[in-house]
Amino acid sequence: MRHLLEVDDLSTTELGDILDLGGAATVPRSLDGLGMALLFEKPSARTRNSMEMAVVQLGGHPLTIRPDEVGLDTRETVEDVTRTLCCYHAAIGARVFEHSKLERMTAVSSVPIVNMLSDEAHPLQALADLLTIANEFGGVAGLAGRTVAYIGDANNVARSLSLGAGMVGMSVRVATPVGFGFSEADVARIIATGTDFVATNDPFEAVAGASVVYTDVWTSMGQEDESAKRRELFAGFTVTDELMDAAAPDAIFMHCLPAHRGEEVSDSVLEGSRSRVWPQAENRMHAARGALVWLMEQR
Ligand code: CP
Ligand code: NVA
Repeated sequence: MRHLLEVDDLSTTELGDILDLGGAATVPRSLDGLGMALLFEKPSARTRNSMEMAVVQLGGHPLTIRPDEVGLDTRETVEDVTRTLCCYHAAIGARVFEHSKLERMTAVSSVPIVNMLSDEAHPLQALADLLTIANEFGGVAGLAGRTVAYIGDANNVARSLSLGAGMVGMSVRVATPVGFGFSEADVARIIATGTDFVATNDPFEAVAGASVVYTDVWTSMGQEDESAKRRELFAGFTVTDELMDAAAPDAIFMHCLPAHRGEEVSDSVLEGSRSRVWPQAENRMHAARGALVWLMEQR
């Protein structure tokens, strides 16, 4: 049995297999008659809906749970909630603040645990992102050798994207304001994928030659107290048409969403012809289905 807490829990071959399963025309009944518990400590539009529908498409029954409904770590420990959910479900997805909560779940779980976003990682997003890039540039085999430029906060989405892109042979450029880049440990982990990685404080340096320009919110869920300060510090890191023009001629724009127009991306880029944010959102469902089929095969 396997868990999926971060993209590099997978080998490169396994990552490719999940992308293939996500893009496959035939859908197996991998969860026929089975349940999947989906626990959300934070809000969600895409992850909840894509996961629920992926489970339905595989013949299963998704059950979405808010932490107050089970009293996560108040009425009962995370470990006891996990053991209980294992009695009824074939898999558990969780969106949590502390990544360590997911690790506590895996320590006691008899079913696969899937990270639906933690403060550290968003692997299901990265899988959908790679599927979107592959669809644009000639399939999974067309990913290697291309460059993805991430502009903004080196957050959960940036970390999973960098690891996943590195694993499929893409070059990775990350431009952040000073003080908002990856830690040394993160950089070592990204470089361990074998990628050509550059961290910079200059968005224009990052996008030069990039096939994909990617951004995410400056203030992630749980950091709301810092939003005014972050708006000041991230000035100059908005993805504008001028920045897109400095990327490769066929460059696409991507954003995991939700977006804050006028902050990390201009309205014209988000709504413009280079934007792929809606196919990207749809691919959350296809990638999730691929990941669930693969996880069920590993039991
Ligand atoms: N991209 C993403 O995870 O969106 P939600 O927060 O709406 O699930
Ligand atoms: N970095 C964002 C991603 C939302 C999908 C957050 O954690 O809020």
